[in-house]
Amino acid sequence: MFQMSSMASKIKTAVLPVAGLGTRFLPATKSIPKEIMTLVDRPLIQYSMDEALAAGIEQFIFVTSRGKNALEDYFDRSPILESVLVERGRDDLLETVRDISQDSGRIAYIRQHSPLGLGHAVWCARHLLGNDPFAVILTDDIIQSDQPALGQLIEIHNETGHSVVALTEIDPTQSEHYGLVKYSHTDGSVVAIDALVEKPPPTEAPSNLAVIGRYILTPDILQSLNGIGQGAGQEIQLTDAISLSITNGYPVKGLLINGTRFDCGSKSGYLHATLAIAASHPTLGQAFRRIIRDLQGPHTQPTGQS
Ligand code: G1P
Repeated sequence: MFQMSSMASKIKTAVLPVAGLGTRFLPATKSIPKEIMTLVDRPLIQYSMDEALAAGIEQFIFVTSRGKNALEDYFDRSPILESVLVERGRDDLLETVRDISQDSGRIAYIRQHSPLGLGHAVWCARHLLGNDPFAVILTDDIIQSDQPALGQLIEIHNETGHSVVALTEIDPTQSEHYGLVKYSHTDGSVVAIDALVEKPPPTEAPSNLAVIGRYILTPDILQSLNGIGQGAGQEIQLTDAISLSITNGYPVKGLLINGTRFDCGSKSGYLHATLAIAASHPTLGQAFRRIIRDLQGPHTQPTGQS
């Protein structure tokens, strides 16, 4: 669990686009939202929530779609469950369950009626965003780090007042899975971005620095979202709107994140995250590492089976 950042943050609101159908995880996602799937001992969405709360976020806008009601229930109070846990004297579980439920009004749920892209999902939140900078968290991207990745971005935003996007270095052959940045200047891990390109083929990639799912955006982005059409994959791309903001004179920084990012949008990335998080888990880690060692050994059958 992250420690609360001591630095006062101006970023109080986070948008979480969670409208995706999760088709890569069918059949599980036929009846539950992907964000509720368990990663070791918590639903995927809880990781984003914990990271955001640790970075000082106070209000959340979930951009949802049909079939995502389980997300609202997850963050709601659960009176019957809580009274059963009280009766059974399970104070530990009671505390866990109560910690998850957020105060009334802290999470707003709005719907994206059609899957028109990440930029469109953020645009759906426009009436709730006002004129303040805000965060965007893509829940598929799990980032293991000492300081929450969002907190790292907020520090750079507080220093510069600019939009800041999270970056990582990628294998250039993977460029078609990411938004990539064009830049000419870096200062340590901070990159002055000239433009962004969504999912280019390797031959057209402007660099090997890719955007990962954490953004601090200044409100000009909503204007830019109004001014762009469909981009890569025939979707309204957030990347294109950020690029347009730069063209319109709003500087954007990239920050190479100090941490490890897992892409839980793919089965292999999800398994990788499961292994890494389980192996470093404070209570399950030791036993889990033993299981992995045993699986790697010559005898992979559990004891007692032939
Ligand atoms: C989205 C963004 C892309 C970014 C990626 C990071 O793509 O559009 O720019 O690099 O998230 O995970 P998606 O993975 O939703 O296709």
